[in-house]
Amino acid sequence: MTTREQNILLTRTGAGAAAGKLLRQYWQPVAMSDEVTADGGPKIVKVMGEELVLFRDEQGRAGLLGKHCAHRGADLSFGRIEAGGLRCLYHGWVFDVSGNCLEQPAEPRAAAFCQRVKQEAYPLREAGGIIFAYLGDGEPPALPQLECLGAPADHLFMWKFRERCNYLQGLEGDIDPFHLNFLHRAMDNSHAKAAPGSSDQYFDFYMHGIPRLEVERTGYGLRIYALRQLGERAYLRVTNFMMPNVAIVAGPTGEDGYTILWHVPIDDESHMKYMLNFRRSKPLNAEIMQKIYDLHVVPGTDLETWRNRENRWKQDRAEMKDGWFAGMGPSFSVHDNFVSESMGPIFDRSKENLGYTDKAIVAARRLILTGIENMASGAALVGRTSDANSSMLDDMIVSSEILDDPAKFRYEALVED
Ligand code: FES
Ligand SMILES: [Fe+2]
Repeated sequence: MTTREQNILLTRTGAGAAAGKLLRQYWQPVAMSDEVTADGGPKIVKVMGEELVLFRDEQGRAGLLGKHCAHRGADLSFGRIEAGGLRCLYHGWVFDVSGNCLEQPAEPRAAAFCQRVKQEAYPLREAGGIIFAYLGDGEPPALPQLECLGAPADHLFMWKFRERCNYLQGLEGDIDPFHLNFLHRAMDNSHAKAAPGSSDQYFDFYMHGIPRLEVERTGYGLRIYALRQLGERAYLRVTNFMMPNVAIVAGPTGEDGYTILWHVPIDDESHMKYMLNFRRSKPLNAEIMQKIYDLHVVPGTDLETWRNRENRWKQDRAEMKDGWFAGMGPSFSVHDNFVSESMGPIFDRSKENLGYTDKAIVAARRLILTGIENMASGAALVGRTSDANSSMLDDMIVSSEILDDPAKFRYEALVED
């Protein structure tokens, strides 16, 4: 069971909070690359309760600066992109992407004064069409060696949207294998077939399979096996938890790639869910992917969703009879959004009754809490390495397959209950 105290440790993400410090030890997505251009304007991004200014300079380099100008605090998101950086509107100081002060036009001793002034700035990396930021202390680790981040752009389809609840609620939904049998169920296979991008060949396993769940510890977090045995055969799904706020699952591409779900706190009561869809063997069908996205998110926004708390996710009781189990249409993102937000902004986990199928969630919480302890004692953190050629993710398996002889299947390093 999770105590109230542990729940606070796991869910509070401000700069001084336990989970906040842990999350800051890892690279976090803060925007899509195309959200900032040199001829567009800077943009406010809110991450873990902090409002920061993201911009791209005239050379195309991205920068992430503190919102308030180091001179006298004017909001830099209104600034001008020029002179090698971002110019504050108030007295014209210019800061580059690293926070160095390049100009102080009205200061007689600007040459020396500039040297002494540093605007708060965070390291960034761009990969796979995403801007990652490191908001922690000390040297940043290497960016995780995810295959998808080096893939050609047309093998990727990224999107993001806001969920109005704590990051952990969203994350736990993605590493909870057996909710697929219920929350995402179609009442008959014709609906499963008709849903854009969905696969229907596992329908009978979802409906009638006997669940078995196993969890293994890995260098990056957890590997989670969900087996649904039906007669002589079984349907196996392997999902991953990458520390401290990432799930990697079989998505619309099945085994030929994966979907990464990265839950980045906006503040303690909302988070941005980044979904990175990757297909290994050939380009993704962007049209189909866009259709899946448009089922949930209002085009041109990352905040507004068609179905939401205010309209009760447009739940339709008639649809629940012979359409979709949840009565909320075919989008899995809508179902997941409903369930995460329906718990309230930060659920009190001391009120839960955890069972067999929550094994992966319990293991993930334990790993995050251990990470918090290790951070305090200076010990190494799971999933964090400074080695840019690390093989840590080499044994990451994402699977969605039917096993003809499940008895032959071997696990490697199971976590004991
Ligand atoms: S407050 Fe920004 S230059 Fe003065
Ligand atoms: Fe789900």
